[in-house]
Amino acid sequence: MSTTPSDGPTVATPGAPASSPAPVTPVTPAEDPSLWIPEQLRDDVDRILIPEAAIAARLDALAAEVDRDYAGRESDLLLVGVLRGAVFTLSDLARRLTIPSAIDFMACSSYGSSTTSSGVVRILKDLDTEIEGRDVLLVEDIVDTGLTLDYLIKNLRSRHPASVEVLSLLTKPSRREVELPVRYVGFEVPDVFVVGYGLDFAERYRGIPHIVSLRPGTGV
Ligand code: PRP
Repeated sequence: MSTTPSDGPTVATPGAPASSPAPVTPVTPAEDPSLWIPEQLRDDVDRILIPEAAIAARLDALAAEVDRDYAGRESDLLLVGVLRGAVFTLSDLARRLTIPSAIDFMACSSYGSSTTSSGVVRILKDLDTEIEGRDVLLVEDIVDTGLTLDYLIKNLRSRHPASVEVLSLLTKPSRREVELPVRYVGFEVPDVFVVGYGLDFAERYRGIPHIVSLRPGTGV
C-alpha cells in the first residue's frame, strides 16, 4: 500500500501509518525513588512525566516503524537532528535502526533562554550534506508552537529531497500555532515546561534521563 506523503514527493510507504503517541502518567520523585535523578537537580523536579525506560520502549517502536517505512530505498536515510535538544533522541534512534542511515545536524535559534517561543527562527548551523534526491527524517525533541519545524521543513523542501518527514520525541498539541505533518511522535505532553533527555531550561537539566517538569519558581 502506498500512502500520500505529507510533502508531496516520492514516498511509497508500505503498511499502516505511524503508531499513536504513548500515554504519559506523571509521578513525583518521592513516589518512585527508583527513577534516578542527579542528586543536585532532584529538588528542582516536580514530576517525572516519562521515565527513561518508557522513552527507550517508545524509541524501539518508532525505530521499527522507520525501518519498515524506509526499507529498500535507493539512498541511505539521512537523520537530521535539530540542535541541541534532539541530540539524545537522534543518538538513541540511530542506534536502533537496522536500515542504513547517515546523520547530520542543523541549529536554529527560536527560544533564547526564555521558557516561551519568540516565534523567530534563524539558522545558526546548516547541513553539511547535499539532500537533493535523499530521504530526510528531521529529528526533534519537542514540537511546541511548530514554528521551528514549519520553517525547517519549508527550507529543506526547497533543496529538492526525495522526501522530508519528521520524528519528534514529544509534542505539545495545545501550544501549536501552525499545523505540521509530524509522522512519528513519541509522546503527547500537557502544556507544562518539560526538561530532561536533551531538553533544557537555560542550558541546565539536559542530562536528566527522564522527561520531567520543574517545581514552580525553579530558576537557574
Ligand atoms: C526547542 C526544541 C525545538 C523548538 C520547538 O529548541 O528543541 O527545536 O524549541 O519549539 P517550537 O515548536 O515552538 O518552534 P530550543 O530553541 O529550545 O533549542 P535547544 O534545542 O537548543 O534547547
